[in-house]
Amino acid sequence: MVTDSPTEMLEAEHRVIAKVIGAVPVLADQLDAGQAVDVGLLRDIVEFMRAFADQCHHGKEELLLFPLLGKKGVPLQGCPVGALTAEHARGRALVKELVDAVDAHQEGEPSAKETVIGALRGIAALYPNHIWKEDYLLFPMTNKVLNVEELQLLSGEFQKVDERIGLSQYQRLEAFAEHVAEITLTNV
Ligand SMILES: [Fe+2]
Ligand SMILES: [Fe+2]
Repeated sequence: MVTDSPTEMLEAEHRVIAKVIGAVPVLADQLDAGQAVDVGLLRDIVEFMRAFADQCHHGKEELLLFPLLGKKGVPLQGCPVGALTAEHARGRALVKELVDAVDAHQEGEPSAKETVIGALRGIAALYPNHIWKEDYLLFPMTNKVLNVEELQLLSGEFQKVDERIGLSQYQRLEAFAEHVAEITLTNV
């Protein structure tokens, strides 16, 4: 995960997030087909989305990359940064919807399963598109807008985020993504 290029660091995290996102529609289909809800797995996905996708990855984008782009004259409203920020918020809302529905399902609420499926499908629809926009639009733009020194400083800031999270926690979340991809046969 340590590399000189901040956009390569973020792209590598996208590949980890994509493993979990790839599993999400498979789980939705299984639930839709009447299979039992693996509540533990859904809760682990919620924890991954909050700790890795949001705190670690979106944190680097929203708290470090986007403000730096703003300082370099990139508009923070509209396309692409404003749209990507809104998608982060949508992702957070969907993950909250998912965990609330999992809670309701465990409490015996009959309609909760449909809400779980809806939240999973929402997450599955949002992220591949979001990741594509960043890999093919935001990151090439970043590498044009920032000079070599600024890119190196940003890498250093990203590494500090990883250090705050801790190597063992980071590796645990990466291993979870690998595990989810394997058990749902969506490994890429
Ligand atoms: Fe993002
Ligand atoms: Fe991203």
